[in-house]
Amino acid sequence: MLENQLKILALNSHIGTYNMYKELFDFKDKVVVVCGAGGLIGKELVQCFIEYNAKVVAIDINKIRHENTDVLCLQMDINSEHSVSTALDNIFKKFGRIDSWVNCAYPRTSDWNKSVEESGPEWFNKNTEIHLGGYYLTSRAVLERMKVQGEGSLVNFSSIYGVVGPNFNIYEGLSINNPVAYSAIKAGIINLSKYFATYYGPFNLRVNCVSPGGVFDNQDSVFVKRYSALTPMRRMAKKQEIAGSVLFLSSNAASYITGQNLLIDGGWTAH
Ligand SMILES: NC(=O)c1ccc[n+]([C@@H]2O[C@H](COP(=O)([O-])OP(=O)(O)OC[C@H]3O[C@@H](n4cnc5c(N)ncnc54)[C@H](O)[C@@H]3O)[C@@H](O)[C@H]2O)c1
Repeated sequence: MLENQLKILALNSHIGTYNMYKELFDFKDKVVVVCGAGGLIGKELVQCFIEYNAKVVAIDINKIRHENTDVLCLQMDINSEHSVSTALDNIFKKFGRIDSWVNCAYPRTSDWNKSVEESGPEWFNKNTEIHLGGYYLTSRAVLERMKVQGEGSLVNFSSIYGVVGPNFNIYEGLSINNPVAYSAIKAGIINLSKYFATYYGPFNLRVNCVSPGGVFDNQDSVFVKRYSALTPMRRMAKKQEIAGSVLFLSSNAASYITGQNLLIDGGWTAH
């Protein structure tokens, strides 16, 4: 009797489906590259993909190290074609492929923190060039390599400010600012990702975007209070919550998702 029941269970398609579902988040033997890996979110992404047993490549413009010696750390500037091409060569030499690439670099000039009045075309153009232009340069180079291998996923980082305008009340009297170029750049990254999604879709490549709300990083308590009060979930994001969404979009669980912008914002853009 029990034997028969086990046989029926084994034939039941739910068992097969169950096993398949578990594999959707399997990153074993997958090569995942985090670009901007030395930053607040990048570090968390590296940790997240390590925990999912991926072969992780950590890239940053600054020289970085990781306590886990299996992590391949590379220095690369998203604005240099030569630097990007060399990094890609090194990754393919070591691993032979790239399954997922995440762009979370945050290039900005040293005078980034300007008000609208202080800003000017030179400042605006330079920051657009190094941030939006860098994401274009890197995405294009990565996707061209992935095209040859016939599969792959790319996730670019935008922001809520690529979708909605800032609420300036939260910055009043504080040194924290949200420069006008950021909104233009981040909006550009959303549609850059959509363009690449439709262009490279026929090559079995997925390109998505994530738009986080403010991530808690010990900001001024007045800012945290104001920001939280305006957020439906009444708090800022945890960096782990950003990593989890990127993990999902990079995984096979998102195998039919491309050209999307996933807002991770506690409801900020819902009203
Ligand atoms: N932190 C937040 O609250 C928040 C919210 C929304 C969106 N974002 C976005 O998330 C991404 C990551 O943000 P973060 O807070 O971790 O930033 P961060 O400044 O902490 O880290 C960014 C990393 O990018 C690297 N970098 C800068 N220029 C580079 C270049 N030319 N080439 C390669 N690497 C370069 C830096 O060295 C740094 O390690 C950014 O795109 C940011 O706009 C952040």
